[in-house]
Amino acid sequence: MNGLISKETSTALIAAAHMAAKEAYCPYSNYPVGAALLGLDGVIYSGCNVENASYGLSICAERAAIFNAVGAGCQQFVALALAAGQDQPGTPCGACRQVLAEFCDQEMPVYCACLQRGPVITTTVGELLPLAFGLRNGVQ
Ligand code: THU
Repeated sequence: MNGLISKETSTALIAAAHMAAKEAYCPYSNYPVGAALLGLDGVIYSGCNVENASYGLSICAERAAIFNAVGAGCQQFVALALAAGQDQPGTPCGACRQVLAEFCDQEMPVYCACLQRGPVITTTVGELLPLAFGLRNGVQ
């Protein structure tokens, strides 16, 4: 799915990302992140970062949202919103970009909003990870 997202939909998705960020478990970084993914089925799947005392076991909000959706039977997506950072929006880490590329079209919009007031970065999965490695590379 690409491009054709109404202002109402992106605003609702960003609001859902803010709600998800409230559930973040991030006692180590104190950097809450919320993600809200609109499925092609019309459902908003959300996720937050969940950290662990063994740091490497932590999971990012974006991957939590995607895995939540896939586990619920949705593998096609329309748009993603993130809420992270106080006055500068956080953007997806490299690992999350690769997982987004697995399930989302290159043209899928990604909205990166701050937790407080600040700019919203509007980008796409393809801009975040150009020439992504994936099924089209012939991986078996
Ligand atoms: N984090 C995310 O949830 N998403 C990202 O794309 C970047 C980083 C989380 C991981 C960790 O809990 C905290 O932000 C600081 O890195």
